[in-house]
This record gives sequence, structure tokens and C-alpha cells, in this order.
Amino acid sequence: MKMWSGRFRQPLDEKFERWQRSFPFDCILIHYELAASRAHTRALALCGAISDAERETILSGLSQIADRAKSIASFFADPDAEDVHHFVEKQLVTLIGDTGYKLHSGRSRNEQIATDLRLYVRDSIDTLQGLFADWMGAILDRAKQAGEAAMPAYTHMQRAEPVLVAHWLLAYIEMFLRDASRLSDCRKRLNLCPLGSGAVAGATLPLDRAEMAAELYFDAPTGNSIDATSDRDFVLEFVSALSQTALHLSRWAEEMLLFSTQEYAFVSLPEPYSTGSSAMPQKKNGDLLELVRAKAARIIGNQNALLVTIKGLPLAYNKDLQETQQPLFESTRTMLTMLPLVTGFMRSVEFHLESMQKAAQSGFMNAWAAATYLVRLGIPSRLAHEQVGKAVR
Ligand code: ARG
Repeated sequence: MKMWSGRFRQPLDEKFERWQRSFPFDCILIHYELAASRAHTRALALCGAISDAERETILSGLSQIADRAKSIASFFADPDAEDVHHFVEKQLVTLIGDTGYKLHSGRSRNEQIATDLRLYVRDSIDTLQGLFADWMGAILDRAKQAGEAAMPAYTHMQRAEPVLVAHWLLAYIEMFLRDASRLSDCRKRLNLCPLGSGAVAGATLPLDRAEMAAELYFDAPTGNSIDATSDRDFVLEFVSALSQTALHLSRWAEEMLLFSTQEYAFVSLPEPYSTGSSAMPQKKNGDLLELVRAKAARIIGNQNALLVTIKGLPLAYNKDLQETQQPLFESTRTMLTMLPLVTGFMRSVEFHLESMQKAAQSGFMNAWAAATYLVRLGIPSRLAHEQVGKAVR
């Protein structure tokens, strides 16, 4: 049964019906949907809308659904499910009969999707923080291994001043520390529970919102049901944070590519993360780095898609919001799969510390140091600069 067919005399156009579904992509939310449904079931019993026995029947149905979702590959092959909310209801009714229809009492899919997405983003942030720690650990290890080795630091892509290789690598640590703190910041702001917001004006039953929030490890219930059902700021914030990380990774990838050319010869590409050419037998190409550089485009594109989807959207829930899911899921998946790969790359890339050191010893990179030496002897800085410049000439 559809979740809303009562007032309709005509069936939906078949093609439209299939086209408007979100189940092909929102099925990945199933475990969040089930967790939120468990909290709602307990709240229903607490306010007397269902009996304790019904609560237990529904909870056991929900846990069977969770087991099947984990173990049966074909479980999601449901040609009629409109979205993950409809799917769970259908499964529940198959398992426990009409009592399954009681689960939806006093709630709306609008608050459910808002809740599921918050849980999804929160979970993704927690996983990403672990991956960030591994990634930064790999950079730090390489910085330690580089010891006292020097290399040129560049400005305008010209050799500027000698620096420690470690100094260069630690620049990336700063970027990723900021990224990690952006994620924690986003997590703090999103950790409020929309359950009990209903479709827009709040729940039609006296549900204990604080209890539902606590069960799902939210800090508190959201403050305003009109906002809570239409708010996707947390999605936008999260994907913006991912864009910035993708940007940092693209800068890193570009430097590694440059440094791996024969022109620089500072690093050798690790074979497990490189590919060959079907035409030129001598080639070893940095495909991982090139793909990392390009993935940033999709993540940034997704951020833009989210901005434009939400722009000008009147309160409260509109179906437009369904379109915020795929940009979120795609960006998340991209980042979750990319970070372990760049970490593996960083652990196995070979640094040619002698070549880097040699490059740091030519190109008059001690010119500023020489001018500073003259400044110490009392020569005005501008004149010292001029004198050393002439010496370079
Ligand atoms: N699949 C929908 C979405 O992701 C769930 C909410 C549907 N709500 C509604 N009023 N049609 O947005």
C-alpha cells in the first residue's frame, strides 16, 4: 500500500511514479531509519498511543529488518518502494501484520528524512575523523623520516628559500587540522533531533522529544519544527567542509605530480598506486594523483548543486529537498574512499632526499640570508638587498 493513496482517484503515471522515487539512493539510510523508528516506537508506547505488547512486536519487526538488511543481498530489490520510509513500513507489515501500520502514528516522513540525514552526516564525520588521523599520521611519519634534509621552498613556482622537507610536509598538516576542526564544528551544530517535528507544525501526539533525542545520542531536540523539517544547512556545511578538504588534497596531488617529473625528480611514484601506458612502454603515470586532483571538481560541483537547490526555497518541506541526498552521498563516498588511498600513497612514495637537498643548495637561495648578514653589520636593509642583488646578477 502507498503511504498516501486514500485521497487519489487515479493511479500515478507509471513513469512519473518511478521517476520520483528516492529508494534507489536513500536505501543506504536504512539503519538510521530503523534507529529513528525504534526511538519513535518507544515514544508512542510512552504516551499510550500503542500498548507495551505492540511496542515489543514493532521493535522485534524492526530488528528483523535490520538483520535482513545486513545479511541478504537481494533484500532491497523492491520494485514498489517509494523511499526508505515506505520500504521499512512495507517490510514491517509483511513481518508483523497490520500492527506495522501503527508505527507511522503521529509522525511524518519530513521529520524522518531530516533525522536520518543528520545521523548519516554525523556518522560520516566520525568515520572521516579516523581517516584524517591516519592520513596525518602518514604525513607526520614522512616528516620525521626526512630528518634534517632540506629542499627549496617555492614562491611563484620559482625557488625561493631553503626549508626542511619536514617544514614543507607539515604545511599540509595545518590544512588537514583545520579540515578536521571544521568537521567537529559541523558535528556540534547538527547534533539536534528533529523527531517530533511532524510534517511541519509538530507532532500530533504528545511524544517525549527529549527522550527520543537522548536515545539517538543527540544533544537535544531541534527548536522549531518549521525549520527542522526544511533545514539542510548541515548537509551544505558538511559538503562545503569536504570541498575544502578536496581542495587541499588537490593541491597536495599537484605538488606530488610536479615533484615526480624528471624535471624535479624529488619523488618516485609508488608502483602500487601508478599505472602504465598502453602505448609507451617506459611510462609510469601518477593516475591516483590525477584522479585526486579531479575529484575535487565533483565535490565542489555537488556543493554548488546543494546551494542552488536550497536557494529561494520557501518554508518548509518541499520535494526539492529530496535532491539534496545524492550530492551529499556522492561527496561523502568520494572522500571516504579517497582518504585511505592517499594515505597508502603517502606511506609508500619514495622521497629522493639527496636530490632535494642538492636543489636547496643552488639558485642563490641564500641571498636573503646574505642580505640579512649585511643588515646585522649595520647596512640598511634596502641597500643590503641591492648589493646582494647585484652580486647575484
Ligand atoms: N523521500 C522523501 C525525501 O527524501 C521523504 C520525504 C517525503 N515527504 C513528503 N512530504 N513527500 O525528501
